[in-house]
Amino acid sequence: MKKILLTVLCLGCMMHLSAQAKIKPDVKRDQFIRTLMQKMTLDEKIGQMHQLSGRSSITGPGNPKSKAGQELRSGQIGSFLNVLGVKEQIKLQKVAVDSTRLGIPLIFAYDIIHGMRTIFPIPLAESCCWDLSWIEQSARIAAIEGTASGISWTFAPMVDIARDARWGRIAEGAGEDPFWGSLVAKARVRGFQGDKLSDKTTLAACAKHFAAYGAAESGIDYHRVDMSELTLRSVYLPPFKAAVDAGVMTFMNAFHQLNGIPCTGNRHLADQILKQEWKFQGVVVSDYNSVGEQMDHLYATDTLDAAKKAVLARCDIDMCSYTYKLYLKEAVQKGLVPLSNVDDAVYRILSLKYQLGLFEDPYRYQDTLREKTDLLTPEHRKAAREVAKRSIVLLKNEQKTLPLNKNLASLALIGEMAKDAKENMLGSWAAQGKAKDVRSIYDGLVTKGFKNILYHRGVSCTKEDTAGMGEALGIAKQAEHILLCIGENRRMSGEAQSRIGIEVSSNQMQLARAILALNKPTTILLCNGRPLAIPELAQKAPAILEIWQLGTEAGDAVADVLTGDYNPSGRLTTSFPYHVGQMPLYYGRHSSGRPSTENNQKDRYKTRYQDAPMVPLYPFGYGLSYSQFNYSEVKSNLSDLHPNGEIEVSVLLKNTGDVAGEEVAQLYIQNLSGRLAFPSRELKAYQKVKLEAGESRKIVFRMQAKDFANFDETLSWKIMPGKYRIYVGPNSTENQMIEIHIQ
Ligand code: NOJ
Repeated sequence: MKKILLTVLCLGCMMHLSAQAKIKPDVKRDQFIRTLMQKMTLDEKIGQMHQLSGRSSITGPGNPKSKAGQELRSGQIGSFLNVLGVKEQIKLQKVAVDSTRLGIPLIFAYDIIHGMRTIFPIPLAESCCWDLSWIEQSARIAAIEGTASGISWTFAPMVDIARDARWGRIAEGAGEDPFWGSLVAKARVRGFQGDKLSDKTTLAACAKHFAAYGAAESGIDYHRVDMSELTLRSVYLPPFKAAVDAGVMTFMNAFHQLNGIPCTGNRHLADQILKQEWKFQGVVVSDYNSVGEQMDHLYATDTLDAAKKAVLARCDIDMCSYTYKLYLKEAVQKGLVPLSNVDDAVYRILSLKYQLGLFEDPYRYQDTLREKTDLLTPEHRKAAREVAKRSIVLLKNEQKTLPLNKNLASLALIGEMAKDAKENMLGSWAAQGKAKDVRSIYDGLVTKGFKNILYHRGVSCTKEDTAGMGEALGIAKQAEHILLCIGENRRMSGEAQSRIGIEVSSNQMQLARAILALNKPTTILLCNGRPLAIPELAQKAPAILEIWQLGTEAGDAVADVLTGDYNPSGRLTTSFPYHVGQMPLYYGRHSSGRPSTENNQKDRYKTRYQDAPMVPLYPFGYGLSYSQFNYSEVKSNLSDLHPNGEIEVSVLLKNTGDVAGEEVAQLYIQNLSGRLAFPSRELKAYQKVKLEAGESRKIVFRMQAKDFANFDETLSWKIMPGKYRIYVGPNSTENQMIEIHIQ
């Protein structure tokens, strides 16, 4: 009797589902899932919503006697993360398919953030290449290697806008700007998912962490965020919306609380905005244990309440907290959670499995041959080098310190991350990247043919050791040019790695000072996962190359740029501060009633710090080249734009240098419609162009009036009539302005 009642209820809710959820119509898929769901018990449904980690239960699921082993056999686990090795996956999949009542296949998920075995630059670095085709390509290769490792779901891209360098996870995103962040989000989703999800080389992507995780109070990871709806929608949500528009299959909610409600239980986010407003049809997974952590937030009163709050907030999968597994059934039986919510979640999960092709062939991603042949191929390494060299940003280059002359009699290379501790090039999410695969900077320079490379490990970037100072200085004295590699190791950024000291450590600075005092040609190779406050280096060092954590091919990429075999073309997507006290820092800061300008910084009653500039040390969009570029004749073809119209803004760009180079011409707007106080600059377009030495080219930006739209005070996205300024130039601060009017 109970069973029949359940079936009737399910059918009812599924009809409601297909009307509401608007899953792309596929009659065959829909029928398949409906038929399957009719056979499922509530326990089996909840099983699909329960995800376990292969790491925490390593001796578990394979072993029929363990708790996880029994859960697996009774069809109560829907997916795994962190199960590595195709053989192990086959073993678990076999149990799911052959030994459970309904034989529903598992999904194997993993954090493939910037490469699986071939590691690409950390996402923050990669975003500095301003080249969407390479960004897409790097995700494509990550998907090829991920699926060759049996994974069909990655927890990437992270699309969190971050404006606070204290937050260690700034390394994982595309920087501070919503416009650029949205383009990167789309490119990465396309790269991971390709054209067809069931293709054996594509995997499901996951936009995370929904939402505003990067705005953590004081830059402390997992900490609360308190923010207006206007800022949420204008700054933090656009990359998520872009991911939805690009067809992303899954979302991850987040650890923190937003405006008093943990994101995992936040109905405004996943229910109202994501699923109802944006009509997202895919799956929402919690972050690791975040369903249960609602109690630690002092939000859920007990575990039952935690299950209820998360499901009502449309969190479809509980990653590892066991809350759904243990309490969701009770919540349904007590009427705290409508069965329709569970059914909606299960429908989405099964639909994901279907679209991945898992019902057709549960082992389609478990290919023991591909596991051997498709990882770290020469082709993948080549692509990683291409992306890495484009991600490097030249911050300073006084008196043509760079490029290096390949015939230098001697070159000092100082800093352990440049040779001995090369694993640091892999960044904090190295997936299956191995230190032994990494081409160090030393390797790269040797391959370029430098004869006399004097290497010393220098001083550690974590410990206060200065033991290597004397010897390092000794070899620096002998060399014609000194390369000093300093900054942060890979464990100093990433999850839970918030820092207030975002400077280069004092012992590294001591060494740097001593070396710079030699007054020799010296280049600082800055290795880091976040913007660092380096005013002293910026003042004293002749050259600074931001090399981030560039991945497996770091060394050759750095050598390409150092020698000028590749002319640096990276531009910052995150502002570099003078001082940590400037955080949060970003280019689009609003003006105030008493704005500071370059000339009035000393006025007492201005918006300013007494002891630091208001502006960044290196702004968003900034980066040098071995060429120089001149901007002139910024014009538009009209000054009065119709709301349905289009405008052309042009600029004459000239490479005044003596080598060919690439420039990222950037267009920003300022909305002076009077509707609200808008940001002082908003990036709206860019073009990366290559110009031969001496070449001039007219660059034309074609913009539609809708590209000037903003949210108004009622949170409607609108083109607002009024005055607008358009700024064109090489970065967010140096640019030429014209004014237009929108009717
Ligand atoms: C926690 C992290 O916040 C998230 O980004 C990651 O995907 C999960 N752990 C799974 O590893």
